[in-house]
Amino acid sequence: MPKTLRQPTSSSPTSYGCLLLRFSLAVGLAMAPTGCERSAAPPVSAADLERGAYLVNQVTLCTTCHAERDWSLYSGPPVPGSEGRGGIVGVFGSSDFAPRIDAEALAPLSVKELASRLGARKGVGGRVIHLSPFLSGLEQLTPEDARVIAAYLKSPTPVVESSPPDPSRPVAELHDPIDTRARGEYLMRIGRCAACHGPDLSGGVEIEIPLGRSLPSANITIHPTAGIGRMNRAEFIDYFKSLDSPDMLRVVVPEGELNTAMPWPWLAGMAREDLGSIYDYLATQPAVDRAVAIH
Ligand code: HEC
Ligand code: HEC
Repeated sequence: MPKTLRQPTSSSPTSYGCLLLRFSLAVGLAMAPTGCERSAAPPVSAADLERGAYLVNQVTLCTTCHAERDWSLYSGPPVPGSEGRGGIVGVFGSSDFAPRIDAEALAPLSVKELASRLGARKGVGGRVIHLSPFLSGLEQLTPEDARVIAAYLKSPTPVVESSPPDPSRPVAELHDPIDTRARGEYLMRIGRCAACHGPDLSGGVEIEIPLGRSLPSANITIHPTAGIGRMNRAEFIDYFKSLDSPDMLRVVVPEGELNTAMPWPWLAGMAREDLGSIYDYLATQPAVDRAVAIH
């Protein structure tokens, strides 16, 4: 059994109904139990936090975007210590401010409230966030994944993971691995690949970044020459894994050279199984013959 952590009481504010019930009990009114005890947040397990960390740091990149990024370095990693503390998005020329989402800033929201906010565009409730088209996909998080992400961000353990993942870390299992292609499709939605690679994934999108220019996005359809079809499944996984190193966060881009908007340092830390699922999904999608020069 995984060790369970208790939610800090401040993170599960008493609902108005429960307050009313307490008041009624205090003044001696008879009332049937309303299930207030049941509405208390479920305990968060160590496995939940581990999975939340994986989804945040390797797939959805919440604290990487909600940060001050250093675009003099390859892929624009967050300035160390700024992860989750907010910053201007910058990518796509967006001057939107991504607010602070560290545990302190999120303290007024319960895990449940934060999780429902993440799915707000799907009509789950709460204030609608992530409306910009380049943020589209985040609202596709399953309620369970939104819950573990919320629990991780609100946990007293540091939100910040400034060093990339340990490759020997155990693989976090996704909850709905009905089939590997469906898992790949889901990961691509919540990883927002289409925001940069285009709706048909054939790339060629010029992505504006602060400080200089970025390579156009690659064609990641399965096309054998123009796309990723030049690699087999194992090679595709190895390609990402070859970039999975702490050194990736410190590569200086020489002046005048093109940088990349591709979040390599984080996506490269995805589990091999998950990268394989992405390949399996891409293999079922139409191949688009569109050559994009990215090297
Ligand atoms: C590519 C950048 C980007 C990524 C990735 C991203 N966000 Fe955001 N987020 C924003 C921006 C910009 C805003 C403010 C505008 C809006 O709400 O759309 C925002 C708003 C929010 C808000 C509302 C905060 C407030 O004080 O109003 C929360 C909460 C939030 N994001 C959490 C998350 C979580 C959790 C994830 C990961 C699952 C995530 N974000 C991923 C850019 C991003
Ligand atoms: C913020 C923009 C952005 C996002 C988000 C993004 N990419 Fe990319 N990607 C790029 C750019 C730009 C390139 C081309 C430059 C490079 O390779 O660094 C690229 C390159 C790639 C390549 C290399 C292709 C080749 O032929 O060498 C692969 C594979 C890839 N992306 C897959 C993905 C997947 C899968 C996701 C989602 C999980 C994703 N990308 C999300 C911008 C993005």
